[in-house]
Amino acid sequence: MRSPLTGKAVRRALRPVAHLIDQRIERQVRRLVGTGGTPAGAARQPEAHRDHRHPLELFFDGTGRGVSRVPSAAALQRLIAELAEVTGDRAGAERAAAQAFRLLVALEALGVGRIAGGTMNIVGKLSAVPLLDPPNDEILEIGTLYGMFGAALIRMMERAGRDPGLTIVDPLAGTQVQPGTTMGDDASGTPVREAAVRTNLSLAGAAGAAARVQQGYSGDPGVRALVSDRSYGVIVVDGDHSAAGVAADLEWAEEITAPGGIVVLDDFGHPKWPGITEAFQRHMAGDTRFTFLGRVAHSGYLRAKAA
Ligand SMILES: C[S@@+](CC[C@H](N)C(=O)[O-])C[C@H]1O[C@@H](n2cnc3c(N)ncnc32)[C@H](O)[C@@H]1O
Repeated sequence: MRSPLTGKAVRRALRPVAHLIDQRIERQVRRLVGTGGTPAGAARQPEAHRDHRHPLELFFDGTGRGVSRVPSAAALQRLIAELAEVTGDRAGAERAAAQAFRLLVALEALGVGRIAGGTMNIVGKLSAVPLLDPPNDEILEIGTLYGMFGAALIRMMERAGRDPGLTIVDPLAGTQVQPGTTMGDDASGTPVREAAVRTNLSLAGAAGAAARVQQGYSGDPGVRALVSDRSYGVIVVDGDHSAAGVAADLEWAEEITAPGGIVVLDDFGHPKWPGITEAFQRHMAGDTRFTFLGRVAHSGYLRAKAA
């Protein structure tokens, strides 16, 4: 006698139940694998995983800013060691570097344009300035591009309990100006103009909104007269990168840096900008108030003689 379960009539009767079970299994597999549930999709599983990861990569990769924001562990450790050496504060360097890195990624995600330069150099500057404990809270940034670094520096100073006042000088000429160099369209696709700078500064709260933005060149006597109304605790030299331009900014910095103030020489030692080291060496060989504190990533740090 045939088993009742193998009978044709029984199989027909169970078919809807089997179909339901099949559908459930398929749904579970689709959810787990994310392939669309087709055999072809299952065969493409590694690709599907890449697709899953891609949105996360977009958060850190170089698209729209020219450089990736994913530092290697070795680069990060080197940066912290350099920060500790220049500032004398190892624990502070570790904490500040982590906070500055998060801030950089967040501001570029939210702001207009980008912050210029490599990740370690930016994180280094944002960390070093508050750790060097400038003698007052007045900051002058020569060359701002989109104002986003200035906004970030305001945040980092406030995190250290400071009340930063930012002054910016930049031609804001639509594109980045670099004498002797043809700068193509910016990786961000955003024109360099005051509206962009203001939007980014607004991300830094009241101190950002209160920042002074002086359109023009740092070598212009009219610009200098307007901006030289105070002594600065911090001056970031990041405008004209030619030897002549940096030499002129360093001479000006001699006059307007507060006693004990900090000068950040951006792109110092960067192979793309040899004029910066050249101007620095010539300047330091002359009569100067500045002492070289050291280098962190691609920035040099100077301190003016205390009163
Ligand atoms: C490298 S970008 C500055 C980047 C900005 N500090 C940052 O961290 O994102 C240099 C900027 O300096 C400007 N610049 C060029 N020559 C200048 C000068 N003589 N005075 C002030 N800014 C200048 C350029 O147009 C550009 O906006």
